[in-house]
Amino acid sequence: MKGKNIIVGICGGIAAYKTPQLVRLLKKRGANVKVALTEGGARFVSELSLATVSEEPVYGKIFPPMGTEKMDFTRHISLGEWADALVIAPATANTLARLSAGLCDDMLSALFITLRPDKPVLIFPAMDGQMFLSASVQRNIATLAAQRCTIITPESGELASGLCGVGRMPEPEAILAALEEQLLGTKASSPLSGKKVIITAGPTREKIDGVRFISNYSSGKMGFAIARAAAKRGAMVTLIAGPVHLPSPPGVERLDVESAAEMYAASEAFFKNCDLFIGAAAVSDYRPAEPYNGKMKKDDEQIELTLIKNPDILAGFGMQKSPDQLAIGFALETQSGLGNARNKLAVKNLDLIAFNFFDRKTSGFDVDTNILTLIERDGETTELPLLTKDGAAERLLDAIEQLCLKKAVKP
Ligand code: CTP
Repeated sequence: MKGKNIIVGICGGIAAYKTPQLVRLLKKRGANVKVALTEGGARFVSELSLATVSEEPVYGKIFPPMGTEKMDFTRHISLGEWADALVIAPATANTLARLSAGLCDDMLSALFITLRPDKPVLIFPAMDGQMFLSASVQRNIATLAAQRCTIITPESGELASGLCGVGRMPEPEAILAALEEQLLGTKASSPLSGKKVIITAGPTREKIDGVRFISNYSSGKMGFAIARAAAKRGAMVTLIAGPVHLPSPPGVERLDVESAAEMYAASEAFFKNCDLFIGAAAVSDYRPAEPYNGKMKKDDEQIELTLIKNPDILAGFGMQKSPDQLAIGFALETQSGLGNARNKLAVKNLDLIAFNFFDRKTSGFDVDTNILTLIERDGETTELPLLTKDGAAERLLDAIEQLCLKKAVKP
């Protein structure tokens, strides 16, 4: 970090009290640090502390108080030009909204606009979990992510509100590590880099007649989050998706299918040549034996629908995989979860299964968070906390990377 010019943007969240430590860590690494403090930020951490640790004046309002400083009306531009990177921690819902809307009513928002386009921006949202998951915050995050910003999902744990959940700012050491990774590319290359990864996602639809089908509430969000995270780690990802309303993650090849039979056929084509198969789809277990051609009429008071079993895609791969291939599955359970999940791991010959408790509010179908327990073949079990689906995908991939490394060192 020696000689790098870093701007630390600090907004009005309780986590702001940790930021003098972040500035100190950056200075110790030899970086030049300037602080842009929002009005809200200044209520949580003192300007004097930040000026002392950064050895620089702290920037707040666009215009300095009259007569107290030499007037310089280009500060907002020169600051943006000076910076090699901008880190905003903590970023509040308000600042995310202001930045995504392009407002520039203080130094932080103004320099955000004037920062050179090739310079990294790392944003660490930190707020109450419900606020973080709200539609407006998620929309603003998506807008900023679509520009050049890297948004780091907050951690889960005890929040200042006294509640537990998603929303905590990572510790200053973790923020420094993320910045170094962005700026200097220090992260060791992932064991998933260059690996061929097949991921199934979303529900399937099984035709009853020409206009009706059997399906489930799966949104595909978990599978898409895994695909996005795996592509970011350099994997060559093919995403086989049932009917969902989600955009394709960048850098991912996507095949859209409808029924379990179509999903099986699309997946089977990759069985031999993939390194890793991740079954995240909620595949319909049964399908109508004889779908009706055209629209069924309601002539009878009662009708019977005969369902026959669909092929199990993941088990199909598990049974024929070679020792070099890894099979990863999910177990969605409403009761006796861990036992059922362990049973699926053995029966389908998997290397890891993610037990996914279904409660419809915080984990399971069509919500943005998940609670997973990762179970490996040797019985090692890791309970993950409540995380966003993106966060859960990262932790799942961390565990898969460890499996790849273990396989690589086997004689
Ligand atoms: N799966 C699959 N093909 C199927 C059914 C399930 O590939 N026909 C995969 C899912 O993608 C998931 C895992 O198998 O990774 C377990 O799915 P789940 O619905 O939890 O369990 P099932 O095996 O379907 O068993 P049950 O419905 O009895 O719990």
